[in-house]
Amino acid sequence: MKTLTIIQPDDWHVHVRSGAILKAVIAHTARQFARAIIMPNLKPPITTMEQALAYRDEILQAVPAGLNFTPLMTLYLTAATTPEEIKRVADSEYVHAFKLYPAGATTNSDAGVANVKAIYPLLEALEKHDVPLLLHGEVTDAECDIFDREKVFIETYLVDVVKNFPNLRIVFEHATTQEAVEFVQASSNKIAATITPQHLLFNRNAMLAGSIRPHYYCLPIIKREKHRVALVEAATSGNAKFFLGTDSAPHLSHLKENSCGCAGCYSAHAAIELYAEAFETENALDKLESFASFNGPDFYRLPRNTTTIILKQEPWQVPATYGTGDLSITPLKANEMLRWKIQ
Ligand code: NCD
Ligand code: ZN
Repeated sequence: MKTLTIIQPDDWHVHVRSGAILKAVIAHTARQFARAIIMPNLKPPITTMEQALAYRDEILQAVPAGLNFTPLMTLYLTAATTPEEIKRVADSEYVHAFKLYPAGATTNSDAGVANVKAIYPLLEALEKHDVPLLLHGEVTDAECDIFDREKVFIETYLVDVVKNFPNLRIVFEHATTQEAVEFVQASSNKIAATITPQHLLFNRNAMLAGSIRPHYYCLPIIKREKHRVALVEAATSGNAKFFLGTDSAPHLSHLKENSCGCAGCYSAHAAIELYAEAFETENALDKLESFASFNGPDFYRLPRNTTTIILKQEPWQVPATYGTGDLSITPLKANEMLRWKIQ
């Protein structure tokens, strides 16, 4: 039987929610990953240090005994964020970055930034204090086609941000296009990107061909095949600018299987296994460890993990749902077979 031993990975982009959903999902993330960047798009969003520390406590309480897991907290950047809060984050050992959501771009982003130019003083403070900016890189204009929103964001905003703040560390979250890959490759080493398992494994046919499959619907939306190929090439290239961020985003099954379904794929149940499949298909399993376990901490200037995980080539079937009673979450690849299993 084939096995693969790698340094324990971290998830550099995950949504774990709060309350009952947090309790239902956190073990999945905590049993695979040593650390995870926790996205702040709760309702209301996590915008202050105090909220982030309380949320951190709630997450730690929910982690099952025996699992060693460190949540890396983030704050939600709004027009009301102050330079003082940014300084506090710079001095904090628990909060690691700010997340910028363009207003209305995705789940719980009403409080997001409506005008990127208007918050340049905050970007200046982030640059000065060397706090990473995590970007949801999509424009939200109603006229802009949903499949073009990432590319247009880069042209309209990101080029200018990078020009004005050359020392600002930016993670282009959940890159989904060839244009994003090329932008990151061509930028300085201050610019990196996370890539999700769904954008490595699927193109938009998985979501839309023949019938509509809402569990593949996430934002940024899954694109056409040439973009998937560009993402796979970037992830498996060994380039240190690209690292693992699942964007696992649990929603109740009935809110996705709905005439107005929510955006977000749930992948925490099999995150590293899904990435292993993508890398194996490309004959690049030897590149999985740097993508999953080295490039992220190096960019965030945190120590690499020293524990290891073992992946076995052992087929298993993903359950139809996770959760009990009213709480049902449909995972990515529900009912399907996976080739790898974490021990
Ligand atoms: C995320 C969520 O549900 O919180 N949804 C998604 O489709 N990715 C938000 C986000 O990261 O865009
Ligand atoms: Zn996300």
